[in-house]
Amino acid sequence: MSRVIGLTGGIGSGKSTVAKLFAQHGVPIIDADLIARDLTDPKQPAFLSIVSHFKENLILKDGTLNRTKLRAIIFENATERAWLEQMLHPLIREKIIEKIKKITEPYCIVVIPLLFEVKPYDFIDRILVVDANKAQQIERVVTRDKIDPSLVEKILKSQMNRQQRLAGADDVIMNTGDIANLIPQVERLHQVYKTLGRP
Ligand SMILES: Nc1ncnc2c1ncn2[C@@H]1O[C@H](COP(=O)(O)OP(=O)(O)OP(=O)(O)O)[C@@H](O)[C@H]1O
Ligand SMILES: [Mg+2]
Repeated sequence: MSRVIGLTGGIGSGKSTVAKLFAQHGVPIIDADLIARDLTDPKQPAFLSIVSHFKENLILKDGTLNRTKLRAIIFENATERAWLEQMLHPLIREKIIEKIKKITEPYCIVVIPLLFEVKPYDFIDRILVVDANKAQQIERVVTRDKIDPSLVEKILKSQMNRQQRLAGADDVIMNTGDIANLIPQVERLHQVYKTLGRP
C-alpha cells in the first residue's frame, strides 16, 4: 500500500491546481470529483437514481446529466443535498479505495472537497489543506464557472469554515498569492511525502 495524502480545501481554493503540480512530479492523483462524474455518467446506476429522484428535468439534450441545474437545486435545498451526498459518497469511497490499492508509487494524492464533512475517510494518512480567503475563492470560481457570486457564497456556507479546516490540517498550502507561489510549496511537501515510508 502507498501512503495516502488527502488534499482538501473550500470551493475554488485551488485543489485541482495544486493536484496538477503534484502530478508534474509524477505523483498519482485520485480525484473524488472525477469519480463522481464517472458515477453519474448516463450508463451508471447513480444517473438513474438522480434523474428519477428529482422532479425537475435533469437530462440535457445530449442525454447527459445537467450538472449546472443539479448544483443550483442542491445548494438551494439542504435536504436534497443530503440525499445526493448519502447516495453518492459510499460509492465514491469504494472507488477511491479500489484505485488506491492499485498504486505502486510511495504515495498518492486523493482530492476530496468534503474530506472533513463526510466521514470517515479512514484510508487517509495525512491531510493537506489548500487555503485561500473567501473573496479570492468567490472571485476565482465566478471567473472559472461564469456563475453568480451568490451561488458560490451558498456553496461556501454549506462547507466547513476556514478556521475549522485549518485546525484539522497536517500540512497547509497557502494559495492567497499568485499561482507561481504554489510551485515551491508543492516541491517542499513532495520531498517530505516521498520519504514518509510505507504505512
Ligand atoms: N493563486 C491563484 N491566483 C489566481 N487564480 C487562481 C489561483 N489559484 C487557482 N486559480 C484559479 O482559480 C480557479 C479555482 O482553482 P481550482 O479549480 O484549482 O480550485 P478547486 O479548489 O479545485 O475548486 P473546486 O472546489 O471548484 O474544485 C481556477 O480557474 C484556477 O485556475
Ligand atoms: Mg477542483
